[in-house]
This record gives sequence, C-alpha cells and structure tokens, in this order.
Amino acid sequence: MKILGIETSCDDTAVALIDANGSFDASFRYTTHANVRVSQTVHAQYGGVYPNLARGEHQKNLTPMLELALSQGNDLKKQETQIDEAGVRSLLAREPELCELLIPFLKTHAKPAVDAIAVTVGPGLEPALWVGINFAKALSHAWNIPLVPTNHMEGHIVISMMQNGALQETKFPALALLISGGHTELILMNTFGEYRYIGRTRDDAVGEAFDKVARMLNLPYPGGPHISRLAEEAREKGEKSAHALPRAMLHSGDYDFSFAGLKTAVLRITEANPAMNDMEKQSLAREFEDAAAEILSTKTKNAADEFGAQALIVGGGVSANTHIRNVLQKKAEALGIPLLVCAKEDSTDNALMIALAGYFRALRNEYGKAEDMRATGQLKLA
Ligand code: KG4
Ligand code: ZN
Repeated sequence: MKILGIETSCDDTAVALIDANGSFDASFRYTTHANVRVSQTVHAQYGGVYPNLARGEHQKNLTPMLELALSQGNDLKKQETQIDEAGVRSLLAREPELCELLIPFLKTHAKPAVDAIAVTVGPGLEPALWVGINFAKALSHAWNIPLVPTNHMEGHIVISMMQNGALQETKFPALALLISGGHTELILMNTFGEYRYIGRTRDDAVGEAFDKVARMLNLPYPGGPHISRLAEEAREKGEKSAHALPRAMLHSGDYDFSFAGLKTAVLRITEANPAMNDMEKQSLAREFEDAAAEILSTKTKNAADEFGAQALIVGGGVSANTHIRNVLQKKAEALGIPLLVCAKEDSTDNALMIALAGYFRALRNEYGKAEDMRATGQLKLA
C-alpha cells in the first residue's frame, strides 16, 4: 500500500511517500520513497512559532514539497490532467496562496499511484494544521484518493518503534514517553491504537523549557540542540556545576511533570548574572539538562515498574537529546527491558511518521470523510 504523508502541525512543512505491507507485527515492512521537510526559519527572529506566520509558510511550501516527494518517489509525471478545478478552489477557499500554486501543478501532472493520503489533524497549532488538512482534502478530491486522519503523537510513537524498515519486536504493555515542544506525557500502550495516559506536564512541556532556557542564554530558536551542545561541553570538562536547580515533583507520587519552576530558576540565575561567560553558560546548560533528564527518567522508570512495562518507547523532538537518551537507556537496562527510539533525525517532526501511523489506521479501515475532518489542537490518543 502506497501512502502519502502530510505534516503541518507546527513550523515544519513535511511530505513523505512510503510503500508499506503487513500488519502491526513481525510481518510489517516499509520502504521510504521520499521523506522531505522544510523548517520555517522565519520564526527564529521571534524566538518562538507564530501560528499565522506558520500558516503562510505552509501554503508556500506544500506544493513544492509534494512535487519533490513525488519526484524522489519516481511518481512525478508531466501530463496535462483534467481536475475539478471549482471543487479544489472551494476546498482551498481559505488558502488562496496554496490554491494558486496547487492548481497549476495538478493540471500539469498525472495522478500518482497513491492508495491513501495520511494527514496530521492534531494535536498542534490549529491554523497550521488546517493548511495541511485542506491541502490533503484538495488532493483527495482531485485524485479521488481516500484520506486517513492521523494523530501527530501516534506518529512519534510509531516511528520510534521502527528499525530498518520493520517493527522492532515489542512486548506489551509498553510505556511511551513523549517529549516535544508541546507535550510531555507518559502513555501506556497495549497495542497500536490502545492507549492510556499515565501522566503529563502540568505546565510547560520539556521542549518548551529547553527553548525558553536557550532564549535566556541568547541562543537561537529552537534551543534544544544548542543547550545540548553547551551541556556536552561542560560534561567533557568534568567540572561540577556552580548552580543547583530544582527537580520538581520528583517524589510527588504520581507521574505528572512540572517544568515551569525549573525554567524560572534558570531565569533567576541569568537575571542575577547578566554577563555570563561561555563557561558559566555551559555549566548552567548542563545543570538544566541534568535536571530535565533526571525528572523524565526517574518518573518513567517508576511508571514502568508500577505498570509492568515490557518495553520503553521514547519519541518527540526532545528524544533527539543524547544525554536524555543515555539516561533513559540506563533506566531501561536496570529494568531489563528494551528502549525503543528512532534515528535522531526522525525524532523531530516529519511526515514519514505520519505516513506510518496513517498506514496502520488505514489497515483498521479508519478512513476519514473530508467533510468531517477538522484540525483539533488538543487531540488526544485516548
Ligand atoms: O516533536 P518536535 O519536532 O515538535 C513538536 O511536536 O513540538 O519537537 C520540537 C522540540 C523543540 O522544543 C526543540 O527544542 C526540541 O524538540 N529538541 C531538542 C533537541 N532537538 C530538538 N531538545 C533537546 N535536545 C535536543 N537535541
Ligand atoms: Zn512533534
């Protein structure tokens, strides 16, 4: 089954094309024909993502990304093609810029050999999600290909379970730690599609804390990788940190998180020391990363213990963090269970994960009617 994946939930515009076969077990195989994305750089100057700017960028980027993905997948054929132009225009009435790029493309290219179009419907920024959803609806209408509404977080889970084009052998229940710019949650997974929330952040997401701390240290957005680099430099020097940051809710007895206090503690330090040198910044970044890793890994281990998890899954942009991966790996070893995590470049938002999760939804016949599909910013897995 050939799946086209589309992702626009935040500031990455991504399109992927995969060929997948088998069920959610050892029979599953997939080939990636294309996995392209552009990260919107316009937000960097503001230190965060502006939903309406993201909307405009997605409108500009989607058609060229689709063209690139189809050409990489050897599925781009120049050919004069009849489409229901009025129908496409009405589906893209709120995306005029996208419409003006897509219509000429559709009229000059043949329908690709795609069986389903998977698109992120949430969670995420609704204005950004809508662009991808309406784009998918327009393609579905023009080409008569069914739609699969897909959950972004399920994408992060599923891609972390893959290895070399197959599913890693996984015993259930598995415990998934999802850590990104918008989410920090622990989810117990019984199989694909069966989830239970165990804990979540009560305030900031851990990725948001990384981004805000980076901003306090005058580092560019998104800040996660920059904090990580500074922290690594401090670790290499092996010096003890000059500051001790709080580990909030470490012993709260539940599996919820809180990162607002940690962020504010860093702010107090940066305000009291406006002219920090490189070494001081490295030291503070390290202490911050240590605190975040300790909170995440301790809670995850405790939850895995209590719920008898047979595997740990970690996904989302923050799971690209080397230190957090290492600390979680140690916890998994202590529990005697495997840690499932994807290649670092697949941890951050992409459309391959949407195509994969969409494939398993399509297997369950969970296609969506265009008229029912809408952006849901706070979409849940259970
Ligand atoms: O999953 P993702 O790409 O987008 C959302 O769905 O939010 O996650 C983005 C987040 C950002 O907060 C970014 O700073 C963080 O992931 N991130 C990292 C690293 N790489 C990306 N955080 C810590 N260490 C990293 N290496
Ligand atoms: Zn994400």
